[in-house]
Amino acid sequence: MRDPILLTPGPLTTSLATKTAMLHDWGSWDSSFNALTAKVRQRLVAIIAGDNAGDSAYTCVPLQGSGTFAVEAAIGTLLPPDGKLLCLVNGAYGKRIAQMTAMMKRQVTSIDFGESAPVDPAQVAAALASDPLITHVAIVYCETSTGILNPLADIADVVAAAGKKLIIDAMSAFGALPLFAREMQFDAVIASANKCLEGVPGLGFVVVKTAALEQAQGYAHSLSLDLYQQWRYMEQTGQWRYTPPTHVVAALDAALDQYEAEGGQAARLARYSANCACLIAGLKRLGLESFLPEDIQAPIIVTVKAPAHPNWDFKVFYELTKARGVVLYPGKLTTAETFRVGCIGAISQPEMQLALDVICGALGEMGIPCLSTAATFTNVEEVSQ
Ligand SMILES: Cc1ncc(COP(=O)(O)O)c(C=O)c1O
Repeated sequence: MRDPILLTPGPLTTSLATKTAMLHDWGSWDSSFNALTAKVRQRLVAIIAGDNAGDSAYTCVPLQGSGTFAVEAAIGTLLPPDGKLLCLVNGAYGKRIAQMTAMMKRQVTSIDFGESAPVDPAQVAAALASDPLITHVAIVYCETSTGILNPLADIADVVAAAGKKLIIDAMSAFGALPLFAREMQFDAVIASANKCLEGVPGLGFVVVKTAALEQAQGYAHSLSLDLYQQWRYMEQTGQWRYTPPTHVVAALDAALDQYEAEGGQAARLARYSANCACLIAGLKRLGLESFLPEDIQAPIIVTVKAPAHPNWDFKVFYELTKARGVVLYPGKLTTAETFRVGCIGAISQPEMQLALDVICGALGEMGIPCLSTAATFTNVEEVSQ
């Protein structure tokens, strides 16, 4: 029996090769582990800032912990104590950035675009023009709480034109959605191992302009979340400050091998887009509606409106779908009853088709009518690894 398929925003289903890479123990001082860290850092920079950006223009600073730790480290280190952050919010992760910045007692202002509209570059331009104290802007590329795709390139243009610095939370986008230093200006991009790169959880990282980091000595509000010190120590010793997530680094290196073999960003985007299209078409056939219009839907995670039926109960639905081999995700909206289905991970269309069958079967068992799927995979074992 394989594990249930995780159709979630991460941790997500990983390949056998990625899992197998964790079968070794590594000493944190060991030169081979240091070499592995250096290689992974370089590979992560190359994904967005290879070629034209110049080798040393950007560096990658990995950090122990989940993605939020890396976001908090990036904001706390790159925003000067007398700086001011404009936070562009259209979901829970944008709100979280504003919240953590306020907790650091740094100046922060937000524009909230609601939960179903993308960030509007014109409003960003107006806000920057009206508040000269703003030094930095934070944006979430794919707002995973709904799956909404923000117009990153347009926002980067507006921020650059105003002479401000851009920090991008690309947690659920890095490696799949287009994001290249040769095409847009930004100071830092934050992501983690366990989303579109298909590694396992335990580390986040920041790909950051080396020059921005060099200026950031002494800015951090926290010892362990000081990105500058983490970088200096790594550069000087080749080692991590504090205990490294050794197995997670090894798994990420293996996941990056597979990423390159698949064809890099373009191939990953194509696979996730096909997963998403299959899912959305299938949901329609079942009579279920996705929350977002397709033109602002990122091919990462789909928010589905819960059936308007008295028997609907997400917890019951979750257990029934899990028993059939598919793990779904609760909604994260404050305004509507929803659930979410991820399109990312080591999965492709057979898994999406299985998910549709499983959703239909679970709803049927709950006494909630749905139309049937076109093709049926009744058994998780029939789905290819
Ligand atoms: C866009 C975005 N930012 C931040 C986070 C927080 O990451 P973590 O849950 O790993 O702390 C997530 C998690 O899904 C995310 O999708």
